[in-house]
Amino acid sequence: MKAQLVALPGDGIGPEVAAAGVAVLNAVANQFGHDFEINEHPMGGAAIDATGDPLPATTLSACREADAVLLGAVGGPAWADRPLGQRPENGLLRLRSALGLYANLRPVSVYAALRDASPLRPERIEGVDILVVRELTGGIYFGDKREGTDEAEDVCRYTRTEIERIVRLAAELARSRRGHLTSVDKANVLATSRLWRATVDAVAGSLEDVTLEHLLVDATAMHLINAPARFDVIVTENLFGDILTDEAATIAGSLGLLPSASLGDARHEHGLRGLYEPIHGSAPDIAGQGIANPVGTIASVAMLLRHSLALETEAAAVEAALERALAAGARTADIAGDRPALSTSDMADAILSALAG
Ligand code: IPM
Ligand code: MG
Repeated sequence: MKAQLVALPGDGIGPEVAAAGVAVLNAVANQFGHDFEINEHPMGGAAIDATGDPLPATTLSACREADAVLLGAVGGPAWADRPLGQRPENGLLRLRSALGLYANLRPVSVYAALRDASPLRPERIEGVDILVVRELTGGIYFGDKREGTDEAEDVCRYTRTEIERIVRLAAELARSRRGHLTSVDKANVLATSRLWRATVDAVAGSLEDVTLEHLLVDATAMHLINAPARFDVIVTENLFGDILTDEAATIAGSLGLLPSASLGDARHEHGLRGLYEPIHGSAPDIAGQGIANPVGTIASVAMLLRHSLALETEAAAVEAALERALAAGARTADIAGDRPALSTSDMADAILSALAG
């Protein structure tokens, strides 16, 4: 297959983990006889430094034309004092919105070899297999903002249409899994959550093969730790999804392990257009040390192969390589415990060897 891919390394540990992801894409192309053209473009703080804009027009148009985009991470202390609209993160929000990527899929499971890396007791993490479906282009992230020295405001707005499309997708995904859908809101306090809940009921309340439950976000935060295995698909708004997935990543053992896919309705000849990124940030505290965990990015590459290129065999091969490398004891510092830790590139090499073997 011939595919046109874009890599956006970004900031902090972004370039380190993105390099590992690109290496895996190239290895897959070699091993399975594909032709992936991968072009890198500046994004986030790196793009601000180069062009003044966190999402330069050339980067955006390359992403629009690509079959899929792989992103490292954006942000960092160097750009922290800039106005909200000119921060690295704003480039990412604009990119998600411009590409219509309203659905952010964040699968959470525990690698067999990493059961001891989870802070939760083994019996609690037994059977954890959650798919968080986070609404990505609406809500408080995108409402009007007013920032003063004594008063500030962020508007949280949702339309019925925005809620319907994400819930439809989540219900479909639940049907293809264990048929359980948990919708998370704060309907005892927020007007947007009341609309959310009513819309979820209308879309998914009477589906034969999907069991629907509503949970408040605070209770969900608790259940994720107490009984994570009770969840199948969780669908929720933008901000709640952001927060709950960092929490859920802890169950898996490290924020560095979790992948994500951001999808919309746009398709190309192979599959859905999409943006793939680890759920972690740019981790300025460890940037440049070569110790970041590339697993979340490489697992995002597997999602890219599956959703945007319909290469299921290749996606499964990458996921199996991750399992095998971890089972053989390969660990970066975040999950090493008492074991010796590998650098980012040695960890990537261990995964590449497992892929080749
Ligand atoms: C994420 C990140 C982003 C978000 C930031 C970098 C804007 O935390 O993808 O989870 O809040 O969506
Ligand atoms: Mg986040």
